Amino acid sequence: MPGRISDEDIQKVREATDLVAFIGETTPVRQRGRDFWCCCPLHQEKTPSFKIDPATQLWHCFGCGEGGDVFGYVMKTEDLSFPDAVRRLAERAHIDIAETQGGKGVSSSQKQRLKDVCAQAAEFFHTQLMRGKTDGAAQARSYLAGRNLGGTVPRKWNLGYAPGRGALVRYLRGKGFSTTDMVDANVALVGKDGKLRDRFYDRVMFPIRDVSGETIAFGGRIMGDGQPKYLNSQETPVFRKSQVLFGLDFAKASMTTTGVAVVVEGYTDVIACHEAGLTNVVATLGTALTRQHIRVLSRHAKNAIVYLFDGDAAGQRAADRALQFIDASMTPEGARKPIALKAVTLPDNLDPAEFIEQRGVDQLRQIIASAKDLLRYGIERRLAAHDLSRPEGRSAAMNDALQVLAPIKGSLLAQQYAVEIASMTRARESDALDALERLRPVAAAAEEVPARPVAARPQTTDRALSAEEQSRRKFERQLLGLVAQNPLLGLAHADALAATQWHDSANALVAQALLDKLIEDPASTPAALVTAASRKVPAAGGFLTTVSADAHMDASRLAAYLCEELAIGDGEDAIATLKAQLRDPQAVSPEEYDTLFETVVALQKDLETRKANHKPL
Ligand code: UTP
Ligand code: MN
Repeated sequence: MPGRISDEDIQKVREATDLVAFIGETTPVRQRGRDFWCCCPLHQEKTPSFKIDPATQLWHCFGCGEGGDVFGYVMKTEDLSFPDAVRRLAERAHIDIAETQGGKGVSSSQKQRLKDVCAQAAEFFHTQLMRGKTDGAAQARSYLAGRNLGGTVPRKWNLGYAPGRGALVRYLRGKGFSTTDMVDANVALVGKDGKLRDRFYDRVMFPIRDVSGETIAFGGRIMGDGQPKYLNSQETPVFRKSQVLFGLDFAKASMTTTGVAVVVEGYTDVIACHEAGLTNVVATLGTALTRQHIRVLSRHAKNAIVYLFDGDAAGQRAADRALQFIDASMTPEGARKPIALKAVTLPDNLDPAEFIEQRGVDQLRQIIASAKDLLRYGIERRLAAHDLSRPEGRSAAMNDALQVLAPIKGSLLAQQYAVEIASMTRARESDALDALERLRPVAAAAEEVPARPVAARPQTTDRALSAEEQSRRKFERQLLGLVAQNPLLGLAHADALAATQWHDSANALVAQALLDKLIEDPASTPAALVTAASRKVPAAGGFLTTVSADAHMDASRLAAYLCEELAIGDGEDAIATLKAQLRDPQAVSPEEYDTLFETVVALQKDLETRKANHKPL
């Protein structure tokens, strides 16, 4: 189970990762002056507006306003939570992070041990299949041969046979694995009688490997009829179904060269496609495609992900579920990720393996090439469900098809499709556009992983703010950015930061987070401060990195200026509040009035002096 990651480990992982080199692995980066620049991986652009500061290890995109440290980068580009971003970078840097949770944690070395268990189990199953003398093993061999999965296939895919009856447990014991190792890797179970049993019993085994080819789980197919048809490993610390794709280790190279990833439903479909020469094909593990799968695939395939649905009812349910991935990123206005999501359904109730067998791989290639953008696919599916020869059918079809556009309703693209839907259902364009307008934007689909919180974007209310108020909030953010990038300035102005009456509640949270972090560790680095603030306010990475550490010749003079500016603003606010009280006889008793009046006069005098000394920069 994942647990809490210590600050020390977070720091270790950060120090082991150079931001310039890391971003450079996926995006061409060029040095200009002291900083490095590239085209922003978060939105489409032709000229670089994405800056990486090697000194602070912070990044900022002047195009989309996003920014942060290396963890924020991984969170945004790979759609991960903070702990998952840390885990991902830890793995990359081969850093063993201890995760604590009620005293029980899973470290990288334990994960390696689980992978070792899986590797040895796969070896055992494979040997059983190839050389097993039992009837079961012989049956497995002929079963695979009968399904076109004989010849070189078992060796290449490391297929196996699980005899059950404790054979695997005995084998793994001999290799020195403990009960816990086997149970944690989910290849064995402790029965009611307390005895350890094989989890897979008389099944053909499909090892599931991660992207680098290490075995992390199994799918076991029953040879005759029976339930379940496939028994899969449960989730383990090394096996996350929402991220793993069967066949990715073999498929990634051709995904890179073709720019396309094809997703099918079954293990045997993947194998059949690869064996027929179609090698950019993967499958989910009996689960729906998740956004994380899409992220993983888009690391390899830069142009498109094609979802190939079975023609049967289950495939069609999967097709409907896939429509949840329609979102604003598909509109030209919101194109943050250039990857296109496409879909196509196989005809005649066939799955890809059957299709190849009956009609050949070339026809399958044509089908894949004919895949449509998910939006169009969804609309056509909805239209096809109705009888368009009758007026009631057409009107229901129009409303049904328009629903697909709900997540992007404000966009030009949605309007274009609405017009198209109108013409296909012989409705008036204005009716379709009105109906589109009335659609409620759907809430983001629930996922296994919480999406990045969308809150903390107070800028959207800026239009309602006066120019004065806007500049006040801008000053607040500038000061916070300077402090984050120059921790010494934060220490110097800690009192002022604590005293400031932040006008923006997000800024208040960020100030608190920065102060807490500086108090905890006065030697905090800029990146550590940005991490701390971003964990409280997800949007903080963007504005804390806007001001460049050395764009202003004298950061300390600017910080002092901003502190003073904010203090003067707070003073004016305080005086205004007191004056309002003086004007309200119910707020102040006559006895209090005089003292209050004197206070205001004194404050005002003080403020005049401060203002006189507050010279523009
Ligand atoms: P299918 O039922 O389409 O299986 O399920 P298939 O791949 O065509 O298998 P064969 O050809 O009959 O052997 C598609 C996928 O759904 C998952 C598996 O990942 C399977 O490959 N599945 C299916 C399960 O996890 N459990 C099941 O009981 C059935
Ligand atoms: Mn199938």
